[in-house]
Amino acid sequence: MTSTVPTDSVNTQLHEERTFAPSAEFAAQANGTQELYDAAAADRLGFWAEQARRYVSWSTDFTQTLDWSEAPFARWFVGGELNACVNAVDRHVEAGLGSRVALHFVGEPGDTRDITYAALHEEVQRAANVLTELGVGAGDTVAIYLPMIPEAVVAMLACARIGAPHSVVFGGFSAEALHSRIADARAKVVVTADGGYRRGRPSALKPAVDAALDHGESSVTSVLVVRRTGQETPWHERDLWWHEALEAADATHEAQRFDAEHPLFILYTSGTTGKPKGILHTTGGYLTQAAYTNHVVHDVHPDTDVYWCTADVGWVTGHSYIVYGPLTNGATQVMYEGTPDSPHQGRWWEIVQDYGVTILYTAPTAIRTFMKWGRQIPDGFDLSSLRLLGSVGEPINPEAWMWYREVIGGERCPIVDTWWQTETGAIMISPLPGVTPTRPGSAQVAVPGICVEVVDDVGAPVERGVAGYMVLTEPWPAMLRGIWGDPQRYRDTYWSRFYGLYFAGDGAKRDEDGNIWFLGRVDDVMNVSGHRLSTAEIESALVSHPKVAEAAVVGAADDTTGQAICAFVILRSEAVEEADEPGEGGDLVQELRAHVGREIGPIAKPRQIMVVAELPKTRSGKIMRRLLKDVAEHREVGDVTTLADSSVMTMISEGLRSD
Ligand code: PRX
Repeated sequence: MTSTVPTDSVNTQLHEERTFAPSAEFAAQANGTQELYDAAAADRLGFWAEQARRYVSWSTDFTQTLDWSEAPFARWFVGGELNACVNAVDRHVEAGLGSRVALHFVGEPGDTRDITYAALHEEVQRAANVLTELGVGAGDTVAIYLPMIPEAVVAMLACARIGAPHSVVFGGFSAEALHSRIADARAKVVVTADGGYRRGRPSALKPAVDAALDHGESSVTSVLVVRRTGQETPWHERDLWWHEALEAADATHEAQRFDAEHPLFILYTSGTTGKPKGILHTTGGYLTQAAYTNHVVHDVHPDTDVYWCTADVGWVTGHSYIVYGPLTNGATQVMYEGTPDSPHQGRWWEIVQDYGVTILYTAPTAIRTFMKWGRQIPDGFDLSSLRLLGSVGEPINPEAWMWYREVIGGERCPIVDTWWQTETGAIMISPLPGVTPTRPGSAQVAVPGICVEVVDDVGAPVERGVAGYMVLTEPWPAMLRGIWGDPQRYRDTYWSRFYGLYFAGDGAKRDEDGNIWFLGRVDDVMNVSGHRLSTAEIESALVSHPKVAEAAVVGAADDTTGQAICAFVILRSEAVEEADEPGEGGDLVQELRAHVGREIGPIAKPRQIMVVAELPKTRSGKIMRRLLKDVAEHREVGDVTTLADSSVMTMISEGLRSD
């Protein structure tokens, strides 16, 4: 794996002096306390055992908190048994909270549905019976490919209820991407919809499933189809309507107990190679940390708050902070199907106003987009219900942080900048609101129970103010348990860079007060609008086009999306003659962008594709992306002495200038 020493290219203002102490009013009601830090520091495993018993109901209590004897393969809460769906739904109904709204669903076209815990309980039982009738048993995988509609939550929980790990595939991924994920997970059933709404128009989803299953042999025996848009849908023998199947199913289902380490879900994420990794999470530890962090970091008070996490359930943020964390805590939340600008740019703020949202958790890219649209838009709505703001997915620049605080938070809401990953399962680094004074642009400190360090090339802690690699020094309950079907890749990716330390792939540095500042990825992973994409994955999509001989992809800094995808391609000689002038523009570039969209999904389409005659390579043939990044970011090209042919960069720069 390649990794370069991180630089300060993302957060340039590392000497941020502004600090915001929690208000006495917020601190007085906060779930987080200084005692949590003290307790975790005094007895870390004892602390986690306590959280596990506090946040989760166990059918059988565990006998050992952590078994790390087969490191890096962890077992948490050994001997414990539980059911994640029962924790998220049944027990709230049993506690008399059935009439509490679990989900205020807001559809993009303006349709709304309030779903109580009692209603959710009935739905998950029916869905669990349907899946069982379709032959899904404990250990079988189910792929879920849905828009942001309540059925996505129901399907996930129904899988958890019967011990069938779900593999949710973001609805924006293409048929190709869906196919490879279904095949890798060997899914037995796919849950999808006829379509969803995107910017005011219905957009079909089911045809992508048909195309994904059209590759010959498939493990999939049935496809459950939710009717969302009512559009015409091609039908196959394996297809069933979700509403018909649920209606016909029994409304009661007795949940079984599963081992704490029973697989809960697989979620694919991009790594440094072209093949996405199926990140495996199990039940007890994951649920504990998701619920605990939602309680102390988002400060959810389930009886009074209206919580809204704007992520899609197709990403880990949706898994942990729409489904498992808040529902395990019995919270009431908003779930919104659409985009922030549909039908108008104030849609989010209208939702906050209409539902009295108190906690908002979103991504810096959204905040920067709102900044661009101007404060007059949120200023037109009553946002006084908000009391806490959260950020996730990428470093938040201090300007965006301050705008979020002033314009959205009315200067009264604490901001929690939360660092974590698909692999960590739950929040790892974040201030505790009401306890930690916050600082614009820094994710700050490890949450109680988590141990982090910033180290140099050989794994030794660096001094404050020095850039290094972010590592986790102790196992944590929600940690990934491996990569689906590839234990060696798990060791190699995360545990072999530094002996005994988890390598996160992020550059970081601590300021003089010990706050952690993230400096972006140190590997070939890009972060575009908070979505994680690998350069290798997009390169292989590009070279799968018949006109492309070679491709190199870099993430260039972008004011709104954090990073933007820039591709450099060398055409096959036959294609060169037909192509437009080298450089940007032309039909070919559009054709290549569309091709990447088909191979991976629209989120992976490069912002810019530059046709070049050569790529900068070292003598051993490795592409020097650093130099291409200089070009993409319009900087003076750096040191070219290690290039096999140092004139290549001059050629590229001049070729592009002459366009
Ligand atoms: O680079 C870090 C960045 O997002 C990566 C994880 O991406 P993913 O697995 O898709 O999960 C995103 C949602 C948890 C990290 O390696 N990242 C995430 N949150 C932050 C962040 N970078 C800086 N600050 C954050 N708060």
